[in-house]
Amino acid sequence: MPHTTRLLFVAGSARKDSYNKRLAILGAEIANANGIHSSFADLGDYPMPIYDGDLEAAEGPPENARKLKALFEVHHGVFIISPEYNASIPPLLKNALDWVSRIRDRDEPPLAVYKTRVFAIGSASPGAFGGIRGLSVLRQTLELGTGALVLPDQFTVPRADKAFGDNGHLADKKSMELYKTTIEKLARAALIMRGEFSRS
Ligand SMILES: Cc1cc2nc3c(=O)[nH]c(=O)nc-3n(C[C@H](O)[C@H](O)[C@H](O)COP(=O)(O)O)c2cc1C
Repeated sequence: MPHTTRLLFVAGSARKDSYNKRLAILGAEIANANGIHSSFADLGDYPMPIYDGDLEAAEGPPENARKLKALFEVHHGVFIISPEYNASIPPLLKNALDWVSRIRDRDEPPLAVYKTRVFAIGSASPGAFGGIRGLSVLRQTLELGTGALVLPDQFTVPRADKAFGDNGHLADKKSMELYKTTIEKLARAALIMRGEFSRS
């Protein structure tokens, strides 16, 4: 279904050999192969200081937080694939989400960038649970914290150290199919949300 809805895939790890990064890059590839224009953003390319209210008061949000917000703005759906750290969100991701949540451009309402697009969440872990506990916290942050619409579906890859084939795909065909289905749902939801906002 070729359409102009654009998806952004973001990984919550900037580690060179990150499983979550591999999964996010794979997601963008699957989307593009199915006619959904998609990109991957590496949070390692957007280094930011740890959020600090005094720093914000003195200097405003860091330029990289503004760049990341602008990147969210040119995509209609955002798929965040994140590791679980001690049953929660890695600081790299939480910090980026927090800084972006502080930016208000052009008299826009608070958290507009989160409230006007659709999110999907996923995770990969070498562990048996695939990082699913971290996703509960990520869902809470996005839904309750920022007011974002998050797809009920979420995608996890357990035993991630053994899950990828040499071609970068998931060796398990059913997992590949489920990932594709989740991505297509995100694209459809983003298309509907986009229609809503172009009418208002
Ligand atoms: C501080 C820390 C806490 C972690 N806690 C968990 C955890 O609660 N559950 C889990 O499945 N893996 C946990 N892990 C292992 C990560 O899933 C593993 O390091 C994974 O490879 C990180 O994702 P990445 O490959 O995308 O960098 C933890 C790793 C770190 C560094």
